[in-house]
Amino acid sequence: MVEQIEVPERPLAATLARAAVAAGYAPSVHNTQPWHWRVESERLELFADRTRQLSVTDPDGRLLLLSCGTALHHATVALAAQGWASKVTRLPDPEQPDLLARLIPDGPIPVTSRARRLFQAAEVRHTDRRPVTDEPVPVSTLAAITTAVAGAARLQVLTRDQVLGLAAAASRAATVESDDPRVRDELAYWTGRGAPAGAGLPAHVVPGEPPRTTVPERDFGRPGTLPVGPGHDAAASYLLLFGDDDEQSSWLRAGEALSAAWLTAVGLGVSVLPLSEAIEVESTRQALRQVLSGLGHPYLVLRVGFADPDHAGPAHTPRLRSDQVVETAIG
Ligand SMILES: Cc1cc2nc3c(=O)[nH]c(=O)nc-3n(C[C@H](O)[C@H](O)[C@H](O)COP(=O)(O)O)c2cc1C
Repeated sequence: MVEQIEVPERPLAATLARAAVAAGYAPSVHNTQPWHWRVESERLELFADRTRQLSVTDPDGRLLLLSCGTALHHATVALAAQGWASKVTRLPDPEQPDLLARLIPDGPIPVTSRARRLFQAAEVRHTDRRPVTDEPVPVSTLAAITTAVAGAARLQVLTRDQVLGLAAAASRAATVESDDPRVRDELAYWTGRGAPAGAGLPAHVVPGEPPRTTVPERDFGRPGTLPVGPGHDAAASYLLLFGDDDEQSSWLRAGEALSAAWLTAVGLGVSVLPLSEAIEVESTRQALRQVLSGLGHPYLVLRVGFADPDHAGPAHTPRLRSDQVVETAIG
């Protein structure tokens, strides 16, 4: 991927450029990739690209910030795999609200096997919307995933009763969204031919028929070509990513936490499916707060389980060209 941008000759700047490009592997809502990186000689700057914000589905930018947070964490993972620690300052300039973070290399450091594994996980990670097998995720594996989340956001494994509350909220959110023509249009744009090349959701990652699950997956409005196969979500675990407040800086950190949890899950052979519909609709987001017994503000739902080992999952979702999301600003 890095070949698509002009790699600066200075070694540190080249390392930073490679990290910004590798951050493109990060997941994002509807594969909007709503980020823009600026490579300077000794630091990276991460900006929100509001032209790829879901203005109807995500008017507050919660999912945009979560998505940019995953890219930010991916950049730190890529730097660590190149032997650099990073120092991150989030939302550093109130005059520039779309400047989400400054990342300064803070090293060098030895490249550990953990750093290598996390980077390899970033390269292979993808969203698999097929139902999961009936093998439950061991408690110790769930604990490894939830403890990978450090800082402001937390991950809670939902109890059976809480999963039923989640299922009701997700189903209600799906009805609210499918009744809203503006949401339908926005979804059709990101799942159709009108989306920018390399962004949005191609048919091969969208299930060919609705999976038979207790917690409904997102209905993308049209069937895709991904074979659903057998399976259910009976053995899946559902996790809620949440935090103490509902502000931009928390959403950004929650995205970083999402990336850390997801890359850890990949390393443990666990498949992760983010579900955000119940977060997008105000009333169901409040219902999820009740599910959490008022413990905090919900940011995202994650289904975790084991993917069908006998059939290959979907091919990777495409990405924008790196010169569309990474700019080098070195004189
Ligand atoms: C904040 C956020 C919300 C998401 N919400 C959903 C969702 O509701 N349903 C779904 O099927 N995928 C969801 N996804 C997964 C994205 O569609 C996926 O990351 C994107 O298409 C890129 O594909 P990849 O993860 O395979 O690289 C979400 C991802 C993020 C980061």
